[in-house]
Amino acid sequence: MSKKVLILPGDGIGPEIVREARRVLESVNSQFDLGIELEEQLVGGAAIDATGKPLPDETLAAARAADAILLGAVGGPKWDSIPDFSIRPEKGLLGIRSALGLFGNLRPAILYPQLAHASSLKPEVVSGLDILIVRELTGGIYFGQPRGVREKEGGIREGFNTYVYDENEIRRIGRVAFEAARARNKRLCSVDKANVLEVTVLWREIMTELAKEYPDVELSHMYVDNAAMQLVRAPKQFDVMVTGNMFGDILSDAAAMLTGSIGMLPSASLDESGKGMYEPCHGSAPDIAGQGIANPLATILSVAMMLRYSLDAGEAADKIEAAVSRVLDQNLRTADIMSVGMNRVSTSEMGDAVLAALNA
Ligand code: NAI
Ligand code: MG
Repeated sequence: MSKKVLILPGDGIGPEIVREARRVLESVNSQFDLGIELEEQLVGGAAIDATGKPLPDETLAAARAADAILLGAVGGPKWDSIPDFSIRPEKGLLGIRSALGLFGNLRPAILYPQLAHASSLKPEVVSGLDILIVRELTGGIYFGQPRGVREKEGGIREGFNTYVYDENEIRRIGRVAFEAARARNKRLCSVDKANVLEVTVLWREIMTELAKEYPDVELSHMYVDNAAMQLVRAPKQFDVMVTGNMFGDILSDAAAMLTGSIGMLPSASLDESGKGMYEPCHGSAPDIAGQGIANPLATILSVAMMLRYSLDAGEAADKIEAAVSRVLDQNLRTADIMSVGMNRVSTSEMGDAVLAALNA
């Protein structure tokens, strides 16, 4: 049966990096006979320019019909001055996330040994780093009601948010994390603040309950402040980490930066059935858009995640990841990961090199 992939190039460097990722997807599609059909639509600023809306109806319909979505990035200074927040580029992304219920955010932080010098930490602390942060994306304090700024007695203003998760929300993100750990090194660290926040007492209880269904996965718990410290002190102790929306936002950015190269990191956002949207962790990089120098590897690695998590094509995913490692071994570097003695290549030359490695 054929599978549908929707491609959303977006803004800034989006179209440049997605072009290379698409070539890689087309290559493994024919190599592994995956029967994937590709469709392309507008989202973000590009969609605002063409239709007045960041998420046109055709795009949303195509997103619903697709088995997986590949996104470049959205946004840029051109649209920053739109006063109406409902027609900002970001609304395109958030609209797809909420319409499709993409609650499971997978953010790997992998440091390729070839790039160990790029990290802000000592090479021995980070070389070989390969961790996966699973972040709940559609609940928690970012969405809890009530919220707002109000006036209390004496005209003093107070801001307030609500940190709430029900047990079903905890269980479904827990399952995503346990499954991911099962497919990796079988260790899962659940991050909470159960010494202070009741909502995370429940979080800890549900994770402990779920662990009985996954006897092959070793579950541990850590308070978020300690987790932040441990990520910087000895990040290789972790395999998979699972946490709520806000803690995950912060920890996943910190973990990403351990690798020192934003142009290398992919991400996935999954629904309950395994359908997902895949995108690089970085944004639309308007400062370098149109110059042909952006690093396409994060987007190419997002294609690998898509094949593994949504399209049941793990072998093709492995092959893409091996091809990326190989081009790094060949000392090919885009500007963002360039260092002395390496060979600088453009966006499309990097794409060519990955394709050559795939077909070698
Ligand atoms: P950014 O990630 O776009 O750029 C940060 C820095 O990293 C820039 O110097 C950029 O040139 C560099 N960079 C990023 N990706 C790169 C790549 N593939 N190769 C080489 N260098 C790369 O973040 P920034 O500057 O904060 O945001 C720019 C725009 O992107 C904003 O409009 C923002 O809203 C949007 N954005 C969109 C996201 C998305 O679509 N998911 C996520 C983050 C930001
Ligand atoms: Mg963030």
